[in-house]
Amino acid sequence: MATRLAGERRKVTVVGAGMVGGTVAQTLAQRDYADVVLLDIVEGMPQGKALDLMQAGAVLGYGTRLTGTNDYADTADSDVVVITSGIARKPGMSRDDLLKTNMGIVRGVTEQVVATSPDAVLIVVSNPLDAMCHAAFDVAGFPRERVIGMAGVLDAARFKTFIAMELDVSVEDVSAFVLGGHGDTMVPLSRYSTVAGIPITELLSAERVRALEERTASGGAEIVGLLKTGSAYYAPGVSVVEMVDAVLLDKKRVLPCSVLLQGEYGIDDVFVGVPVTLGAAGMGRIIEVTLTDAERAALAKSADSVRELVAAMATFSAPDA
Ligand code: NAI
Ligand code: 2OP
Repeated sequence: MATRLAGERRKVTVVGAGMVGGTVAQTLAQRDYADVVLLDIVEGMPQGKALDLMQAGAVLGYGTRLTGTNDYADTADSDVVVITSGIARKPGMSRDDLLKTNMGIVRGVTEQVVATSPDAVLIVVSNPLDAMCHAAFDVAGFPRERVIGMAGVLDAARFKTFIAMELDVSVEDVSAFVLGGHGDTMVPLSRYSTVAGIPITELLSAERVRALEERTASGGAEIVGLLKTGSAYYAPGVSVVEMVDAVLLDKKRVLPCSVLLQGEYGIDDVFVGVPVTLGAAGMGRIIEVTLTDAERAALAKSADSVRELVAAMATFSAPDA
């Protein structure tokens, strides 16, 4: 993280001032512990949102300084940079179209933020998430500890919510565990998901557990189907802030994050979601839990689907592509 004078606040840049970026900025503003810079390519929009959020502080009683901008100079010396810029898939677009467009956006944004914030921790949010972590990592030149994807916190939040709804218990007493890439192949791990320490496999039938796992894996699509004009942003936004808290407050939280595996879980050179410790230096260590053969196979399959996207990105990057 950047060196700060006594009393000087930490600085968080949020690139992409859309629905997720705006929610991240709003939640961070209410935390009142860091300066927030909101950057977008659309002129006026990040400036408008930043001013609106400052005025909200006059009512809610926070004094966070927010800057809306289109200029990377304003992001200099950020401690954390959250990358939410990108597009969602539109009718007529293939998965590869989305991959190619967002890869270009994420690479371009990363190049610009690392030039002025060389010590930052990067939190990638843009989709397809695990592939976009590769795009950011490739151009950032940062160690793997400082390029981290947000998806597991959101996916676990969804799993926790569905468990609490099913059992009619407080979500505060639920702990949920999700591994793998952010997509259809994610691996909700019920054996390690508990209510007040009791594995849910002891509280629910195998059939109900499977139904909750499946609803979690398609949790993003469920919200898109309801909203129709975009994807989820409240839960994604606060999930990002849980990670920012962990870094800025050096909390050493144990959170599921997409990180570059280098042999852990038998997987090499792929970003995929696993439990890690998160603190001031970014990722501290990867926590490896014992998996059954079926769970290990499901995680390997999930990593393979990320690998396929990375291979497709390599063809886009080729000079004659
Ligand atoms: P949005 O469309 O509301 O916001 C995206 C913003 O990025 C727009 O304001 C756009 O102007 C901006 N942008 C585009 N190109 C840019 C560039 N080159 N530089 C700076 N800004 C640029 O979309 P929303 O809902 O905020 O989602 C953002 C991304 O996050 C999407 O890719 C979405 O799929 C992903 N997402 C990922 C989640 C996860 O769990 N990892 C959860 C929710 C969303
Ligand atoms: C979600 O899971 C779209 O990735 C986003 O809601």
